[in-house]
This record gives sequence, C-alpha cells and structure tokens, in this order.
Amino acid sequence: MPGIVIVGAQWGDEGKGKITDLLAEHADAVARFQGGNNAGHTIVRGGEEWKLHLIPSGILYPGKCCVIGNGVVIDPKVLIEELNALRARRIDVSGLRISANAHLIMPYHLLLDSAGEAKLGSLQIGTTRRGIGPCYADKAARLGIRVQDLLDEKILKKKIVAAMEPKRLSLRPFEKDPALDLHTMTEEYLTYGHRLEQHIADTAKLMWELLDDGKKVIFEGAQGAMLDIDHGTYPFVTSSNPLAGAACVGTGVGPKAIDEIWGISKAYTTRVGAGPFPSELHDEMGEMIRARGGEFGTTTGRPRRTGWLDLVALRYAARLNTMTSLVITKLDVLSGLDRIQVCTSYRGVEGPVFEDFPYHQTVLHHAEAELTELRGWEEDLGECRAISDLPDAAREYLEFIAEHAGAPVALIGVGPGREQVLWTDAGLQTLVAPSGVPLGDPAGG
Ligand code: GDP
Ligand code: IMO
Ligand code: MG
Repeated sequence: MPGIVIVGAQWGDEGKGKITDLLAEHADAVARFQGGNNAGHTIVRGGEEWKLHLIPSGILYPGKCCVIGNGVVIDPKVLIEELNALRARRIDVSGLRISANAHLIMPYHLLLDSAGEAKLGSLQIGTTRRGIGPCYADKAARLGIRVQDLLDEKILKKKIVAAMEPKRLSLRPFEKDPALDLHTMTEEYLTYGHRLEQHIADTAKLMWELLDDGKKVIFEGAQGAMLDIDHGTYPFVTSSNPLAGAACVGTGVGPKAIDEIWGISKAYTTRVGAGPFPSELHDEMGEMIRARGGEFGTTTGRPRRTGWLDLVALRYAARLNTMTSLVITKLDVLSGLDRIQVCTSYRGVEGPVFEDFPYHQTVLHHAEAELTELRGWEEDLGECRAISDLPDAAREYLEFIAEHAGAPVALIGVGPGREQVLWTDAGLQTLVAPSGVPLGDPAGG
C-alpha cells in the first residue's frame, strides 16, 4: 500500500469481492474503476452472504470511504436498490462517493443490449444484458449521460434527446415502450438524482487528497483480464478494461499511485458467456467442479463453464497487469482428486505449440489445452489456517502455479468465509504497514 489494485486474472468471478473485503479492513478507501452491475462480488462474513454489483466491497465497514469512479457505468436504479438493501441490513453507507463524471446506463441501453444479442443469434456474446456495452459505446461516441446531468432537468432532457436521435432506427421496435417516453425517463432519472445527490462528488480530487495524505486505497477491479476489451478474447469480452492500468484512468489518479497489483485466480478456471476456453471440461469432472464450487453466476444465475487451471492465460494476465502477487482462491474445491491437470501450453490445429497466449483470434478459437498432470490430495482444506496445514500435494500445486505464472502467491482461499484465507510469507511481506504490523490478519480474525 498505499495504492493496491485487485484484479481478476481469468474470466471474472475469481473472488475479488472476498479479497477486497479482507484487505479493506486496513485500508482508508476502496474504489471501483470500471465495469458496472455486470459484476457480482460476493462476501461471506460470519455465515452471512452479501452480493454487491456496483458498490465497492469495502462498504461493510461502517462509514468506510467507498468510491464509484468515473470509469464505472452506473445504472442508478440498480444502485439505489443496492443502497436500500444494504440500509435494510443496517449497513452504514454514508461513506459512498459517486463520481459526477461516471456515465449512466439508460433504459435504451438495456433494450439495445438484449436486441443486439438477439440479432447475433448463434454468435451471441452472452452478455449480462445490463446495458454495459451500449453505455460504453455512447461514452465513446460522446453521447453519454453522466451522473452530474441528473442534477439539471434542462440539460438532462436535451442530452437524452441527443442520445436517442441516432438510435431511432434500432429503437423502433420499442417505440411504445413507456420506459422510452422522454418525459417519463427524465422524471425518473431526476428522482434518482435527488436520491443520490448526497453521494455525488468530485471523486478524482478526493482520490488525490487521500493518496497525497498517505492514505491506503484499494482499487477494486471487476471482471477479469481475459474479458478485457483490448487484450481479452475479443469479441467475447466486456466493454471496459479490467486491467490494473485502468485503475488510474478510471479513478483519475496517475500510475505512480499504484504500489501493488494483486491478481485473483481460482485454482481452476470458469467462464460465463460464450467465447474460447481452451481448458474447458465437457465431462463429469467439469460437472463435479461446477457442483462443488457452486459455479453459478452471482449476477445472472447462469451455470458457469468449468475447466482446469489455464496457466497460459494466467501468465498472460500476470504480464498484462505487471502483477506483483497472485491470490489463489477455491483451492478447497479440488480436494478429493487423485490427479489434478493444469494447462501449460496450447496446441494449434496444425500442431504448433503455444507457450504464450496467441493474439490471433482464429488460432485461439482452435487451440486445445496441453495438460500436465500433478498429484492431488484427499484432505478437506476448509479448516486449514496456515500454509503448514496444507497437504504436501496442495503446496506443490501452488508452487507449480507461481512458477509458471511468474508471480508469487500471497493469499490462498480455502472456503468462502473471510477467515478461510491463508497468508504466505510473500503476502505478509508485501502488505506490511509502516508500524511493522501486517495489514492482513494472518491469525484469520
Ligand atoms: P468476484 O466476482 O470475483 O467477486 O467473485 P464472485 O463473488 O462472483 O464468485 C466467487 C464465489 O466463490 C463466491 O460465491 C464466493 O463466496 C466464493 N469463494 C471465494 N473464495 C472462495 C474460496 O476460497 N473457496 C470457496 N469454496 N469459495 C470461495
Ligand atoms: P465479476 O466482476 C464474469 C461476461 C459476460 C459476457 C461478457 C460480456 O463478477 O467478475 P457484459 O454484460 O459485460 O457486456 O458481458 O462478460 N462478464 C462477466 N463474467 N464475471 C463478471 O464480473 C462479468 N461481467 C461480465 O458473461 O461473457
Ligand atoms: Mg462475480
């Protein structure tokens, strides 16, 4: 710290919410920098489960400064529902700050997301249908509506008209949809503005003040490296950059603010939605991982596709992020297997072997995983609280991952609970406060 970025190192759902919540205890602020409510971040504390979509995973600490940065796309209806649900569970949300420059998801974005998918037919991306792509498209086209526009009726109305004008043709099938009526939409969004006003702020300035003051800030990524619009498995990606580099632009701070970059990966691989997945399992083993890992989407409930850990993709994610440490979650899910396989390279159609992630879409779509077999272990890991509690084979597996990915392992997840996390020496060494006190709680408190 002061600036630590938490990013997904796979195709999302790696456990970013859990790790952010864990580290947030000792941080002064947590900031989201991209994505929107396509994200679903789970935190389990004392047997209670929390699912967050837009609000940073630091919100469970009373009054903690939680920033929704300018790079996030916000569906204000969803945000208000999320705030209300937290308040109903007696969570103090007074620390939430929303960037006035963040873009808003509008009713037409939701309709266009679904219509776009329907049009693609069998070539669907499998989006979360939350309007993410169309909203980022409007941002790039400079037709976006921003949080600050919610506070001025005249400007809001004018911008809605301007944004809808070039979409007339594609919105024609929804002509009669009351959600698209200009008056209704303006009134609805003005109401959202009133409800959110107390949280709207110049968050880039706030971030600068925090960091300048030596405060510790966690940048919480959504999605994962392989869903990155530039470097992921395009076009089967999301519409933002879930990489560490985006933490800066998405909150308005310079790269020097970042000290640590932690990539989160499961001990195996999952993916929701369509697109290439070389190490995917289509057999009973895949089913078993899905069932044991509870691999169903936090946002859409869709079953996640499952496969062995893909070290080609993980090494790529480590490089794209200049990852300083790795966090391996869900190691417990692999207990009880005789042998564990890992993907260490890809085989192309005509035989070439790829150690590095191929940039060419056609190559990637035909790539097959070359697997290396490692020893499995029988023991249940849920009660392990130190690295020394792990079976030898589990430790060997972690060492193999670190060596192939090119980053040391800092934390290991052995269950969904916040106490089910093991700190390695590397992890403890990186996150040490000036006082010499570890910033995590290695005792598992
Ligand atoms: P995120 O989007 O990266 O925050 O991850 P999700 O919340 O979508 O999905 C991760 C799921 O795995 C959640 O249900 C977590 O409660 C669960 N989880 C996180 N870490 C572990 C772990 O180490 N072991 C097990 N068994 N479950 C975990
Ligand atoms: P968290 O933050 C997993 C996937 C969708 C789809 C693609 C594009 O919880 O890890 P979009 O709605 O973004 O246009 O969909 O991206 N996707 C995710 N997959 N976890 C997520 O978020 C995701 N957010 C989007 O399934 O394949
Ligand atoms: Mg998720």
